[in-house]
Amino acid sequence: MEANMPKRKEPGKSLRIKVISMGNAEVGKSCIIKRYCEKRFVSKYLATIGIDYGVTKVQVRDREIKVNIFDMAGHPFFYEVRNEFYKDTQGVILVYDVGQKDSFDALDAWLAEMKQDLGPHGNMENIVFAVCANKIDCTKHRCVDESEGRLWAESKGFLYFETSAQTGEGINEMFQTFYVSIVDLCENGGKRPITNSSASFTKEQADTIRRIRNSKDSWDMLGVKPGASRDEVNKAYRKLAVLLHPDKCVAPGSEDAFKAVVNARTALLKNIK
Ligand code: GTP
Ligand code: MG
Repeated sequence: MEANMPKRKEPGKSLRIKVISMGNAEVGKSCIIKRYCEKRFVSKYLATIGIDYGVTKVQVRDREIKVNIFDMAGHPFFYEVRNEFYKDTQGVILVYDVGQKDSFDALDAWLAEMKQDLGPHGNMENIVFAVCANKIDCTKHRCVDESEGRLWAESKGFLYFETSAQTGEGINEMFQTFYVSIVDLCENGGKRPITNSSASFTKEQADTIRRIRNSKDSWDMLGVKPGASRDEVNKAYRKLAVLLHPDKCVAPGSEDAFKAVVNARTALLKNIK
């Protein structure tokens, strides 16, 4: 039995699970949990000191689930407190603030911290991750769009939700799907069921969309050297078009990436004799 599998997994029996929250300070981890458990929102920022712990019961199908929630402090200062709490976890609520690009860019570092603390025998494959793109009510400040967040999450086989702890949008849906997925995983012997989303696009497609998003100009977008010939531009375009064509690619953001590639090619060909 894997180290982080809960003790009882027969259908119909009660189940005890451990979930943790993860993500930078001030992204809204505590507020998301509070919104779900207490149906309220606190606008004043009260930083979590170390860890907050709570217990709640939920019903999933015919099973009663006892959930131990460990709400972690996001501040780097609390690293030493956090690192004792990663083990024996079945579910992670991984949160970023859609108005803070740094908090999105930090998600990989959060996974790395967890992986390091679990050690060489720790297995992240049997943990359900729910990525929360939080504070979607702050539309004016939004700088990480849905397709970018969804692409990151789904390419790792994680669940993705757009949430607002303030308005409550997406919160219940997130927790319900999260708990059902954890129960499914426990009943499936600790293996993450293959989801349509994670199986439906390749790493190459995901990486290409990310590269196109971050490209600095049209040459860079097509992956050719500045001053490349018409033939080279057309060849690079055809390769990308095959990879990203909306009929073939369902990765989040593929349509925008495809349009950007078409536009980049047009712009370059106009200026090449
Ligand atoms: P640490 O405990 O320091 O790691 O922070 P945290 O991630 O738990 O953040 P917390 O839940 O304490 O929220 C931080 C601030 O963001 C607070 O002022 C909240 O009121 C605010 N906040 C949280 N969620 C939302 C949201 O969905 N929308 C808006 N507008 N503000 C939010
Ligand atoms: Mg907190």
